[in-house]
Amino acid sequence: MSKIDYHRQTVIVTGASSGLGAEFARQLARRGANLVLVARRADRLQSLAAELTRAHGVTVTTVARDLGRPDAGRTLRTELESRGIHATGLVNNAGFGTHDAFTAEDPDRLQSMIALNVSALVDLSHAYIDPLTSADTGVLINVASLLGFQPTPYMSAYGATKAFVLNFTESLWEETRGTGLRVLAVCPGATRTEFYDVAGSSADYGTKRATPEQVVTIALDTLDRRSAPPSVVTNGRSLALLGRLLPRRSMVRLMGWMDRRQRPQHPVALTNS
Ligand SMILES: NC(=O)c1ccc[n+]([C@@H]2O[C@H](COP(=O)([O-])OP(=O)(O)OC[C@H]3O[C@@H](n4cnc5c(N)ncnc54)[C@H](OP(=O)(O)O)[C@@H]3O)[C@@H](O)[C@H]2O)c1
Repeated sequence: MSKIDYHRQTVIVTGASSGLGAEFARQLARRGANLVLVARRADRLQSLAAELTRAHGVTVTTVARDLGRPDAGRTLRTELESRGIHATGLVNNAGFGTHDAFTAEDPDRLQSMIALNVSALVDLSHAYIDPLTSADTGVLINVASLLGFQPTPYMSAYGATKAFVLNFTESLWEETRGTGLRVLAVCPGATRTEFYDVAGSSADYGTKRATPEQVVTIALDTLDRRSAPPSVVTNGRSLALLGRLLPRRSMVRLMGWMDRRQRPQHPVALTNS
C-alpha cells in the first residue's frame, strides 16, 4: 500500500469547527477529498465549507450536531446515506478535556466528556467500520493524545478517555489488517487550538505547543506510508517514551509534579506523599 488517493473519497471530520478538525478538513480538501464536517457551531462549519469549496472545488456537506449522544454514529450514517452521501473515511477528532483536581470536577461535564471522547467515537467507528473496510482505501483516524500513554493527575478522566481511544484504535488496526482500511490513532502533544480554553486550563506551555498544521501533516503523511503504524505521536515523543521506561509509580508522580509546576494557581493536592 502507498500514498492514499483521496480524489474519489468522502471523509467525515468531526469537531471541524476549530483547531485540529478544521486543519484536517483543510489538508484533506487540498488532497482532493470531499468532506462532511460535523460540530455544533454551524456558522463556523459553513464558512469553512465555503472556503474549501472555493479553493479546491470539492463537495463539502455540513452537519451541525451535538455528538454527545449514545447513537450519534448510527444516526449520522442513516441521515447521510438518506442524502446519498456514502463516506469512505472518518476522522474522529471531536473531543474536549477538563483540567482540575478530580474532587473539583463537575460530574455532568465529566459525563459529557466521556460521552463525546469515548462513546460517540466508538459508535461512529462501529457505524462506519463495514463501509470503510470494503472501500478501496478506507481511512479511519481517531484523535487520541500524548496523554493517553500514562496516568494524568489533574486531567485524570480526560487522560483515561484518550488511553481508551489509543488502545481501541490500535486494536482495530490489527483487526482490519489485510483489508483496504487504514487505521491510525493520532497522539498529539500540546497544540495551539481552543482546547485549553475549553478545558478552563491555566497551564502555561509557553512556546512549546505545536501548530495544528504540524500535527495534521504528520498524521496524514504517516497514513500514507507503505507500512503505517497503529499510532503516531506527533509532538512530545519523549514523554511517551518515558511512560514506557519508568515504573508506573514514578511516572504518575512525575506527571503530577509537572502539572503542578505548569499551573501557578494550582489546586491543592489531596495528599503530600
Ligand atoms: N490541543 C491539544 O493540545 C490536544 C492534544 C492532544 C489531543 N487533542 C485532541 O484533539 C481533538 C481536537 O481538539 P482541539 O485541540 O482541536 O480543540 P478545539 O479547538 O477545542 O476543537 C474541538 C472540536 O470539537 C468539537 N466539539 C466539542 N464538543 C462537541 C460535541 N458535543 N459535539 C460535536 N462536536 C463537538 C468542537 O466544535 P463545537 O464547539 O462547534 O461543537 C471543536 O470543533 C480532541 O479530541 C482533543 O482531545 C488536543
